[in-house]
Amino acid sequence: MPFDWETDFYAATDWDRGAYVGGDDMPEHLATFFERVGVPDTVADVGCGPALVDFELAPRYPDTAFYGYDVAPSVVESNREQAAEAGLSNLSFAVDALPDLAIDREFDLVYCMATLYFVDDVERALTELYDRVAPGGHLVFNYPNRYTRTWVHEETSGEKREAFGLVGAGENLLSYDAIESVLGRRPESYWTAVGARGEPYASRRSPAVFVRKPASP
Ligand SMILES: C[S@@+](CC[C@H](N)C(=O)[O-])C[C@H]1O[C@@H](n2cnc3c(N)ncnc32)[C@H](O)[C@@H]1O
Repeated sequence: MPFDWETDFYAATDWDRGAYVGGDDMPEHLATFFERVGVPDTVADVGCGPALVDFELAPRYPDTAFYGYDVAPSVVESNREQAAEAGLSNLSFAVDALPDLAIDREFDLVYCMATLYFVDDVERALTELYDRVAPGGHLVFNYPNRYTRTWVHEETSGEKREAFGLVGAGENLLSYDAIESVLGRRPESYWTAVGARGEPYASRRSPAVFVRKPASP
């Protein structure tokens, strides 16, 4: 049975409200990105999980509407409760799943971190994410590459290896060239843009990039 985030993780473990790649640095990195490209009116975090970044930035940017989406209903429900308790009216959550998103609107910034590892049709997922970016907006994401695949083989075991099965099998690996061929735009390094280049998580096995959608086609 393939790894199931709802039953094998959120319902089965005492998960923390953290960020999988980059941990507590990630909210500040996205704030740096906001200041660099302009504070967005709307942000979608796809595969948000516990949504640390959204919970940290929603109070700091009260004029920005944050929307978190995840395939796992229980983390969405927990996030909703937490947002209500914290009185964060600019932060909301819904269930949705890559590669075919039901979201029927655009956002100034679409953010997808530590999620494409788990999606089989990664090219379709990229297209769907980019389609949700408003003209002039940005898509920010990280992705598995051939170095991530080596890491899966050499440094994971048990349930973690199972969760990263698609990456281990080499089924959903990307590169700058592959992203450019799917989106028609060359990605740029997110880690460099936010000043994280020397951080251990900004390694070659964990590239994070952004793509700006032209204001007019
Ligand atoms: C490693 S966690 C990352 C969570 C968060 N983005 C972060 O950076 O910490 C991966 C998340 O992706 C979600 N996920 C897995 N497959 C998904 C899919 N096909 N569509 C949407 N979310 C998915 C999981 O439920 C989980 O919350």
